[in-house]
Amino acid sequence: MNIVVVGTQWGDEGKGRVIDFLSQEVDAIVRFQGGSNAGHTVVVDGEIFVFHLVPSGILHPGKSCIIGNGVVVDPAELLAEIEALQRRNVDLKELRLSSSAHIVMPYHKEIEKMEEKQRGKKKIGTTKKGVGPAYTDKIARRGIRVGDLLNEKVLAEKLDVNFVLLPNYFRLNLCKKDILNRYLEYGDKLKEYITDTSVLVNQLIKKDKEILFEGAQGTLLDIDHGTYPFVTSSCTSAGGVCIGVGIGPTRIDRVLGVAKVYTTRVGEGPFPTEIEGREGEILQERGKEYGATTGRPRRCGWFDGVILRYAARINGLDELVLTKLDVLDKLDRIKICTAYKYKDKAIEDFPFQVDSLRECEPIYEEMEGWEEDTSRVSRYEDLPEKAQAYLRRIEEIGELSIGYLSLNPERAGLIKLNDES
Ligand code: IMP
Repeated sequence: MNIVVVGTQWGDEGKGRVIDFLSQEVDAIVRFQGGSNAGHTVVVDGEIFVFHLVPSGILHPGKSCIIGNGVVVDPAELLAEIEALQRRNVDLKELRLSSSAHIVMPYHKEIEKMEEKQRGKKKIGTTKKGVGPAYTDKIARRGIRVGDLLNEKVLAEKLDVNFVLLPNYFRLNLCKKDILNRYLEYGDKLKEYITDTSVLVNQLIKKDKEILFEGAQGTLLDIDHGTYPFVTSSCTSAGGVCIGVGIGPTRIDRVLGVAKVYTTRVGEGPFPTEIEGREGEILQERGKEYGATTGRPRRCGWFDGVILRYAARINGLDELVLTKLDVLDKLDRIKICTAYKYKDKAIEDFPFQVDSLRECEPIYEEMEGWEEDTSRVSRYEDLPEKAQAYLRRIEEIGELSIGYLSLNPERAGLIKLNDES
């Protein structure tokens, strides 16, 4: 079975721990988009790992871990991640990197910093990892790809083109020769991992191997379907898998959507169920809601059923994975958004335009909190009745069943609810 795992909110849903758990049952784990803007956290026996580019299944020896062509790769960051994992004795023999993945260049980070500054109050709140400008160059057909790092002549020619196209400010502050030498060195260090990963993944599929496609960020950060322009620059939804890996849509069997039982967002942009004040702070503190890549505090809000239905539609979700239930343990009442009020009408579909979204007010249902510790529960049946009622309500609103539930960050903290899945 080839399964896609995507975030259904604005990222940070806990996909890393879900991928780590599901990796036990598959042969390969493949990233298909995003770059080192992602920060996927996995906790094993109290040890914390944060993955930015390396697939989150890497802690399972012998599984192919593949960085697909749709990812943008900062080679310095990838090498640092590889070296840090090697120091922790993680086996990287099966790590592979697509020769067609695009490269984040030093000027990408500079361009991003400057653009964000120039936007002033209208900034996007990006992670400053150079991801947006790298995707811009890809679409503008001047991008440099992983395979180019292995060929001095090609890399030098491409750098020449980029230096002609770069605005003066950046060109004057960078040394082309230094960049050429540095990136050739990166290529040399990475060459053992570089291959045509589309061939590799399709071969695995032909051999009936099982594959997990690891989404980064979340549906509402999708370049097409997210809250544009407050989005990332890649296709974060399930549709991005085929393009970002080089497989056909007929090769995907199942799509799992990961959602937190509340909502968070990092960076700018509208967020209808955002909570101002103490309850928001409780979620932030209890959920340790600080960015795994940038350390920025995440904005927190109530669970949004309109977003869940939207994510179900855009991704064709088969099943839900809910995370961080224990973060709600201390609350005596919990709100859940079932629809929005927009121009005096109740709407159930997520508005496509960000300006309309800004005018939406959430319509809430209020449920009683369970006020009991759920973080050590290991069976669904043992959850407090009120917690079960909350989860059932999410299922009803999303018209989806919950396949897995995460109650604490450890591997054993994820429980499977639906044995048929
Ligand atoms: P960029 O991807 O760095 O260009 O940032 C664009 C928007 O996506 C910003 O609001 C970021 O905070 C958000 N973003 C990017 N990656 C992540 C992630 O992994 N988790 C949550 N938000 C993210």
